[in-house]
Amino acid sequence: MDNSFYVTTPIYYVNDVPHIGHAYTTCAADVLARYYRLRGYQVLFSTGTDEHGQKIEKAARDLGITPQELVDKMVIRFQDLWKKMNISYDEFIRTTDPRHIKVVQDFFRLLDERGYIYLGDYEGWYCVPCETFWPESQLDERLVCPDCGRSLEKLKEESYFFALSRFQEPLLQYLESHPDFIMPESRHHEIESFVRGGLKDQSISRLGLEWGIPVPSDPRHTLYVWFDALVNYLTVAGWGTSEEKFSNFWPYAYHLVGKDILRFHAVLWPGMLMAASLPLPRRIFAHGWWTVEGEKMSKSRGNVVDPYLMIDRYGVDRFRYFLMREVSFGLDGDFSEKALIERSNADLSDNFGNFVHRTLGMVWRYKKGVVKKPSPYQDGEWEKLLEEVKEGFQYYMERFAFSQALEQVWKLVHFANRYIEREAPWKLHKEGKEKEVENLLYRLLDNARLLSFFLYPFMPDTTLKLRELLGLQQDPGKESLEESLCWQGGPEVYSVEEAQPLFPRIIE
Ligand code: MSP
Repeated sequence: MDNSFYVTTPIYYVNDVPHIGHAYTTCAADVLARYYRLRGYQVLFSTGTDEHGQKIEKAARDLGITPQELVDKMVIRFQDLWKKMNISYDEFIRTTDPRHIKVVQDFFRLLDERGYIYLGDYEGWYCVPCETFWPESQLDERLVCPDCGRSLEKLKEESYFFALSRFQEPLLQYLESHPDFIMPESRHHEIESFVRGGLKDQSISRLGLEWGIPVPSDPRHTLYVWFDALVNYLTVAGWGTSEEKFSNFWPYAYHLVGKDILRFHAVLWPGMLMAASLPLPRRIFAHGWWTVEGEKMSKSRGNVVDPYLMIDRYGVDRFRYFLMREVSFGLDGDFSEKALIERSNADLSDNFGNFVHRTLGMVWRYKKGVVKKPSPYQDGEWEKLLEEVKEGFQYYMERFAFSQALEQVWKLVHFANRYIEREAPWKLHKEGKEKEVENLLYRLLDNARLLSFFLYPFMPDTTLKLRELLGLQQDPGKESLEESLCWQGGPEVYSVEEAQPLFPRIIE
């Protein structure tokens, strides 16, 4: 169905403490899921955890518990955070889920039957914490992991290989004919030149590792964590378990990933899918990384941003708004509490919150909380702006350009604030022009209603609060967007609640 939308986040290593990087991708996916639901799409939004691998096995051993016990404990930190962040996922996939294990093994069997798997020898430099083999071309004489800086181990062992090299040409052709496959555009070029540089077959199994999915025909081998992890996207989409779900969602898959894991998603994963003769996802979007006050975020620096703490301090919607507005999705950005405070004071308190507060205040002052729709209800200037914002918003949302989409919305906020100054309802009231005051207030209230639709994907709690203040049915998703998001879509009468500040200014 052309109105399906399947959005995924990476499945996070369950042993990590959730940080701003995890919160970022998941928040972006939530914004998209809510946006497409609002537009009436059938949405499947999945996130989850990557639970296999040597690190977990080691950690569990050190604690004297089973790996399963360990992951069952750890997964809760992610699930709780998503609750706190209002993440509306439809499915939470864990790689230890038996349905996933079966899908991974079936997928391996399929590639094997098709002749894309062979047994060979792998020799290479391996980073245990990152679970990655590094080619020598990317290492210097220190032989440390280019990602985490820790020492590498030389490993030579029997391994199953996936014949990725056979997909170099098909993948290049695909990239050439699908310029929007990888976004932003610069990443598309980067991947294209990487593929052009030559693809090697990929080792996809390890010996002597207990905590993972066994190779079905040869259980001495455990499947490489990335092979296991990538297949989660198929498990959730119902591959091999629900034909209907799979055909509904898989052709509309959108993967959101951080730039550091783009290659797995943009090279290995398409190769695996081509080997299975499955369609590739619609889009893979690589976002940038957050630094913290100008520095790389890392445990050793002790500057890891804890989303729980940020939400306790500033509230979930300020945090969500900041993540989506501060940086163009796709570029790197810098996080600081100072920037969060400045951004939310300026945009949310002084502009948006102030507009709503003033409007409700005037509605009570001049109309005792009740305002009727003018007849006829027209205003060329407002209507034109609304059309422009709607169009711009949709354009940017479809390109996952969240910050630019919000900029469009703020045109309505700024316009409304200027309109209040220009039309000066207090003067009209003094002059006894009550009809004009009512018309003007209706327009302002209706602007707040329209904002509730645009802002719903980004700040669901605030939207519900705003709609309650406006006396509207709370959940904007229950209305038809087509009819509601238009100039004539407002109610005959607004009967509003007393003004309360939505975003009190934060004093530093
Ligand atoms: N388990 C794999 C993904 C498998 S998906 C089939 C994995 N897990 S992870 O827990 O390390 O995921 C981290 C995610 O967080 C990545 O998308 C990464 O880009 C993102 N970030 C980690 N640090 C980040 C920042 N400082 N800023 C933004 N995102 C960052 O990789």
